Amino acid sequence: MRIKECILDTALIDDIDMMRKLWESLPGLGLGPGDDKTAIISFIRRNPHTCLVLRKDGQIIGTVLGGFDGRRGYVYHLAVRQDYQHNGYGTLLLENVVQALKNEGAGKVHLLVYRNNTSAQSFYTARGWHLRDDINIFSRVSD
Ligand SMILES: CC(C)(COP(=O)(O)OP(=O)(O)OC[C@H]1O[C@@H](n2cnc3c(N)ncnc32)[C@H](O)[C@@H]1OP(=O)(O)O)[C@@H](O)C(=O)NCCC(=O)NCCS
Repeated sequence: MRIKECILDTALIDDIDMMRKLWESLPGLGLGPGDDKTAIISFIRRNPHTCLVLRKDGQIIGTVLGGFDGRRGYVYHLAVRQDYQHNGYGTLLLENVVQALKNEGAGKVHLLVYRNNTSAQSFYTARGWHLRDDINIFSRVSD
């Protein structure tokens, strides 16, 4: 899909190096061990229709990873290159990943935001997402 001189496309394995470079350039994303190349390859292979990129002139200027676990959808790594922000691309990626997850069967979608990433929280709130105050996230690293 061509939008505002960009192409909205599904992410390919070959895109991963550029995607990771974009993520590393942005504060707020909180990259971890789940973001190494092998993990992202696995994520894209499992979710081939819900990982999206925005392409422009051979570069990737936006990403979002959508994952469907058979019950709920999850959104990770919504990111727009700094010099392209505030042009509606983040909103576009978000709307499209929610639709793509819905197409897979996800009627409800969650996302995680670091508590100190207040600008992303405002961004989501302004787009109809609500902050849950009834759930805590517990994590455990496998042995
Ligand atoms: C969050 C993020 C993806 C938003 O991307 P973006 O492309 O700037 O998003 P948009 O342009 O759709 O919206 C951003 C703001 O620009 C405004 N905007 C949109 N189009 C505009 C235009 N043509 N002219 C001026 N302003 C515009 C929007 O109203 C919005 O303001 P709001 O948040 O007060 O409503 C981006 O800031 C980012 O990559 N942040 C770093 C990574 C991050 O924290 N990601 C979230 C992880 S959970």
